[in-house]
Amino acid sequence: MIDAFEGLVERGSPEEFLLRQIDRDRLPRHIAVIMDGNGRWANNRSKPRVSGHRAGAISVRETVETAARLGIGYLTLYAFSTENWKRPRLEVETLMRLLREYLGKELETLARNRIRFRAMGRRDELSGGVRRDIERAERETAHFDGMVLTVALNYSGRTEIVDACRRIATHLVTSGGDPSRITEADIGRNLYEPELPDPDLLIRTSGELRVSNFMLWQIAYTEIHVTETLWPDFRRANLFEAIVEFQKRDRRFGGAIDRIGDAGTPMTTAGSGQVGR
Ligand code: FPP
Repeated sequence: MIDAFEGLVERGSPEEFLLRQIDRDRLPRHIAVIMDGNGRWANNRSKPRVSGHRAGAISVRETVETAARLGIGYLTLYAFSTENWKRPRLEVETLMRLLREYLGKELETLARNRIRFRAMGRRDELSGGVRRDIERAERETAHFDGMVLTVALNYSGRTEIVDACRRIATHLVTSGGDPSRITEADIGRNLYEPELPDPDLLIRTSGELRVSNFMLWQIAYTEIHVTETLWPDFRRANLFEAIVEFQKRDRRFGGAIDRIGDAGTPMTTAGSGQVGR
C-alpha cells in the first residue's frame, strides 16, 4: 500500500505515519462523503462562495485519486442536493460547470485508473448539457473494473425512497402482486444505483452533525466520521485519518460481539422476494 503512494507521501511525514496505520485487509469497501464547508472556506477568505466550490473541486480530485490508490471499491460524493436549487443562480451554474469541467478534464485520469463513473439522482431535472456529459462519462468508463465513483447530483435520500416506492407500486399494479410481500431487498433493488453496496464509512466535513438527506436507506449501519476540516482543505491525510478511525470501531449491525469467543456475525433482515426491477 505504501508503494502506491511512493513519491506522493513524504517519508517521515505525519501523512506517512497515518498511512502506515491503515490495515489494507480491513479497508472500508464503500466510502461516502458529504462535502461541506465550501461557503465557509470562501467566507473566511473574504471571497465569493463560488471560489469555495472551485477549491472544493481540487479536493474532489485528490480524494478520488487517493481512494483509488488505496484500493477502495466504491466512493460516493454528495455534489448537489435537490434542495441546492434554492441557492443563487450563479452558485448553481458554477456547481454544474465545475462538474462538467471535472468530467471533461478528468475522464482520461478516470480511464488511466480504471475508475467507473456513475451519477445518481433525478436526472430528468438536469440540463441537457449536464446529462450528456454524465452519460458520456458513464459510457466511456462502463467497462472499467477499478473503483466505482458515484456522484450524487440532484439527489435526495427521501426522494430516492419515494422513487423506489413508485417503481414498486407501478410494478404491483401492473402485475397484480401482493404488497405484503414487499421486502427490504425489493426497496434496495429499486434505489437509483442498486449495485452500490451500503457505505461502510460516511465522512462529513466542516463539523456539522447531520446526515442532510444523504443515502438515508443505505446508511442504516454506516460508521460516521465527522471532521472539522472544511471540504476545500480536505487532503490525503484527512482521508487516511478517517480510515484509521474507522478501523478502530466495532461494527455490530445490531448484533453483539462476544469478545471472548468469535466476533459476532452480522445479521440481515433482507427478504428474498423480488418486486420491481
Ligand atoms: C457544500 O458546501 C458543498 C456543496 C453544496 C457542493 C459540493 C461541490 C463541489 C465540491 C464542487 C465540485 C464537485 C465535483 C464532483 C467536481 P456549502 O456551500 O454548503 O458550504 P457552507 O455550509 O460552508 O456554506
